[in-house]
Amino acid sequence: MQKTGLQVLELSKSYQSGGGENKVLKKISFTAKDNETVAITGPSGSGKSTLLSILGSLETADSGELWLGSINVARLAGKELYNYRNKTVGFVFQEHFLLPQCTALENVLLPAIPAGEGRKLKKRGGELLVLLGLSGKLDSFPSQLSGGEKQRVAIARALLNSPKLLLCDEPTGNLDAVNAKKAADIFVKLAAKEQVTVVMATHNKELLKNFTAVYAIDNGSLKKVKN
Ligand SMILES: Nc1ncnc2c1ncn2[C@@H]1O[C@H](COP(=O)(O)OP(=O)(O)OP(=O)(O)O)[C@@H](O)[C@H]1O
Ligand SMILES: [Mg+2]
Repeated sequence: MQKTGLQVLELSKSYQSGGGENKVLKKISFTAKDNETVAITGPSGSGKSTLLSILGSLETADSGELWLGSINVARLAGKELYNYRNKTVGFVFQEHFLLPQCTALENVLLPAIPAGEGRKLKKRGGELLVLLGLSGKLDSFPSQLSGGEKQRVAIARALLNSPKLLLCDEPTGNLDAVNAKKAADIFVKLAAKEQVTVVMATHNKELLKNFTAVYAIDNGSLKKVKN
């Protein structure tokens, strides 16, 4: 068993619907090395968000294995599960979910508050915003930021706790073509700079030129499109 990167082994997930069984993921397997950028494409309803939810331990698979480094994710419970969700994994969603009453920097620092580490991580939060091209915007409120800028604040927030795995669900869905491409390029840069494995769900194949691997979910199976 490899002790680095992400390893997904024959994951399956079904939902009950209308009296029948909706087999969303059928024995999906893939691996990603540390610092890889992996894109998951596929039509609406194909299971992209379901897969990301399982990778982030927000959902459990029916069967199969999931390893991040030496962490056996399905076996996590209690404090270890809390730490996995809050520190080991970072999430970026299509909607940025920034708090309107908080500045950009305060929004980035939100994940540190439960552990009482807001002050300690203030420098890192500011550095991440600078890294993402928002040096003049630390004290701006979300209402004063463009869509792409808000999305970058959400990316900085997801990175605050130095996750090993960054899960991004359609993070560019609300951006125009130019900003979507910029955001995708940012993920590639971050993977190297922050030593994080990125798994991104997207409809938009145009964005994926620089990604190290691209998969498509097709009728519950995962197929490699590019590596
Ligand atoms: N909690 C749930 N209960 C029942 N069915 C669900 C649940 N979550 C998702 N599904 C079903 O699983 C399938 C996959 O949904 P999922 O959200 O993973 O698709 P997706 O690829 O992310 O789609 P989109 O591109 O529209 O975001 C869909 O048929 C959906 O209806
Ligand atoms: Mg989805």
